[in-house]
Amino acid sequence: MSRSKLIEIAKANLAHARAGTINQTENIYQVPAEHYFDHDRWQQEMKQIFKRVPLLMATTAELPASGDWKALTAANVPILLSRTESGEVKAFFNMCSHRGAQIMPEGRGNSHRFTCPYHAWSYNSEGELTSIYSNKDFGDLDKQCHSLTELPCLERAGLIWVTLNRNTTLSIEDFLCNYDEMLGQFDFANWHYFAHQTIKGPNWKIAYDGYLDLYHLPILHKDTFGPDYPNKANYYNWGPHQRVTGPDISLSQYEELDESLWPTGHLLNGVWTIFPHISIASFDGGGRAIMLSQLFPGETPATSYTVQHYLMEKAPSEEQVEAARAQFDFLKYVVQEEDYATGIKQQVALESGGKDYVMFGRNEGGGQRFHQWVDRLIATSDKDLPALFTNND
Ligand code: FES
Ligand SMILES: [Fe+2]
Repeated sequence: MSRSKLIEIAKANLAHARAGTINQTENIYQVPAEHYFDHDRWQQEMKQIFKRVPLLMATTAELPASGDWKALTAANVPILLSRTESGEVKAFFNMCSHRGAQIMPEGRGNSHRFTCPYHAWSYNSEGELTSIYSNKDFGDLDKQCHSLTELPCLERAGLIWVTLNRNTTLSIEDFLCNYDEMLGQFDFANWHYFAHQTIKGPNWKIAYDGYLDLYHLPILHKDTFGPDYPNKANYYNWGPHQRVTGPDISLSQYEELDESLWPTGHLLNGVWTIFPHISIASFDGGGRAIMLSQLFPGETPATSYTVQHYLMEKAPSEEQVEAARAQFDFLKYVVQEEDYATGIKQQVALESGGKDYVMFGRNEGGGQRFHQWVDRLIATSDKDLPALFTNND
């Protein structure tokens, strides 16, 4: 099913290449400039989006084995992911039941025991409280009632989502709108985790706009990707999640072949975004690889940070390690010195009040759709949230 969808998209991209067309939207779309800096608006985004919809917290490749854990902060919430003895991933608030200290430091490791650094209460990889330091002195307590607080978590397609609202009625499956089946074509569950690095950026939506935008490639990235890089985009969506991939005449080489032989790597190219904060760029660098960019809002509307993760289809040989490192450094340079450097100055200009709105052209449908989904989520009550994803267009 998902493979036939990939073929259908490839055929559409080939037809667009032949006709010299792209999928344009009806109209040019305006977004109020203040949406990028207004504090009240930003707080609504945090509350209605980041605290309500599932966020991608990790890749399976980061915690493949039982006992593997990862601690991170997302939208100011400390999270602990743990692969239990049974092999399932669970997500918890990284917060001790005693007096709330953060139990594990940010990072990754392997342990079947999580011991709080404050007074040494310990938990197992299921999040159960297993021991209380000086228990007799502390007093009687039913340990079973004081496990770590669990959050909804789903591992699919080699990716791990967590919802920061523990009482949510939105299922992570529904939120994904079958997009996970498409992402499953990559087989990330069996990929190799190479490295990560973090960079600082402007308002999270300025940063995210860039991942949905091919229009700027031969201009802003003329010195890195080159002035002839294609700038045409077609957008394909599953609810709020969008794949960006351009017209592609090179697909004509497969036309005589049975569709089952069209190479999956080629069929998956382009950028796969996952609302509201992920971009997966697929390319060849030291072997088949992806850069998964995980974008988080910073402490103010004007700031964000992005964790770039580099994953490879296969564990690299020695020469491939060097090539992959060089490719990852190059991508950091492109995003930090070109995209985000431009975005940080754009942020200042937007805050100056010189324009009331910015525009997304008929060729920038991905940005249009992204902002429409942001607006829609802000306007939707908790009660109506699940319906937004089950009745999506
Ligand atoms: S806060 Fe964790 S043991 Fe006291
Ligand atoms: Fe860019």
